[in-house]
Amino acid sequence: MGTIGKGRSASPNLWTTWRLTQIAPVSTDQAPPFPESRCDLLSTQALYWSIFYPMKRLESRTVLITGGAKGVGAATAWLFAEEGARVFIADRDAAAVEALKKRFAVKGYDLGGLCADVSTAAGAELAYTTANDSLGKIDVLFNHAGIMLVKPFLDCTLAEWDELMDNNAKSAFLMTRLVLPQMLERGKGTLIFTSTTGVRAATHLEALYCASKAAMHQMARAIAVEYRDQGIRCNLICPSFVRTQHGEHEIEQLRSYGVFASEGDVNAMQGRICEPEEVAEVALFLASDASSFVNGAEIFVDNTFTAV
Ligand SMILES: NC(=O)c1ccc[n+]([C@@H]2O[C@H](COP(=O)([O-])OP(=O)(O)OC[C@H]3O[C@@H](n4cnc5c(N)ncnc54)[C@H](O)[C@@H]3O)[C@@H](O)[C@H]2O)c1
Repeated sequence: MGTIGKGRSASPNLWTTWRLTQIAPVSTDQAPPFPESRCDLLSTQALYWSIFYPMKRLESRTVLITGGAKGVGAATAWLFAEEGARVFIADRDAAAVEALKKRFAVKGYDLGGLCADVSTAAGAELAYTTANDSLGKIDVLFNHAGIMLVKPFLDCTLAEWDELMDNNAKSAFLMTRLVLPQMLERGKGTLIFTSTTGVRAATHLEALYCASKAAMHQMARAIAVEYRDQGIRCNLICPSFVRTQHGEHEIEQLRSYGVFASEGDVNAMQGRICEPEEVAEVALFLASDASSFVNGAEIFVDNTFTAV
């Protein structure tokens, strides 16, 4: 690595500006010293760094994403890596984990990941210890894994209740319980939970899904309140229908019952379907210092779904 943060800048002039822009940004060794003081922010060196090495929003952060192999989780893993984070995914779909690792390798990114079911204590423990060994620490935990069920309430079984609660609420409890102690030791940590518009706008035929997400949702807000003064931020993302396997299957299932039966129905509620990358951008905001005073918040990513 070069001399980031070391050395003083020479006084700027047009010639040095021109010279600096002629240097190919192959490595930071060839770059001029990184500006050290506020005065230096106006220097040619600052100009050079901002052009060739723009500050990444998650530089050197470490992130664990559950349910990170597909859909929103994968889009988030990708965006976070582009923003300088080291990312580890835990997902119960082994093939999807391997496929995403390959996609990252093609781009030159190193993605850690393993197949684990985080709805079980053993799976969550495996995900945590492997991620922690690989990353060294976990700065950001994104509790994204979850499942849905579309079924009339009176047809729902006790086993389905347990399955939904395990995957949507218990998984987040298990993972947070494992990661939070080390965040508290460092006095800093960011937790992000994927909730749903269903916690506000209850959806037809999704009583168990809404109940399990609501349990997780309020647990996250309580965690934010409990640990605010120890450097922990804990926030919720509440998407409406997103173009993922989960979202498309949900729409299909609802349609099979004659609910939200046409494309026009989804458009009436939220204009169009949401793209996974649009949710990932919100996760990036919450993971980065840009949201330093955002804590215990529920961010609805729903294009007015819950506003009407
Ligand atoms: N897609 C939507 O319309 C929508 C809307 C609101 C909320 N959500 C939430 O988003 C999450 C679903 O993500 P998506 O939309 O990207 O769908 P997706 O199906 O593309 O991805 C979900 C991923 O989570 C993994 N997963 C599920 N349960 C797991 C477990 N117990 N352990 C490990 N991995 C597990 C799956 O294997 C899958 O790779 C859920 O929490 C869901 O409640 C989705």
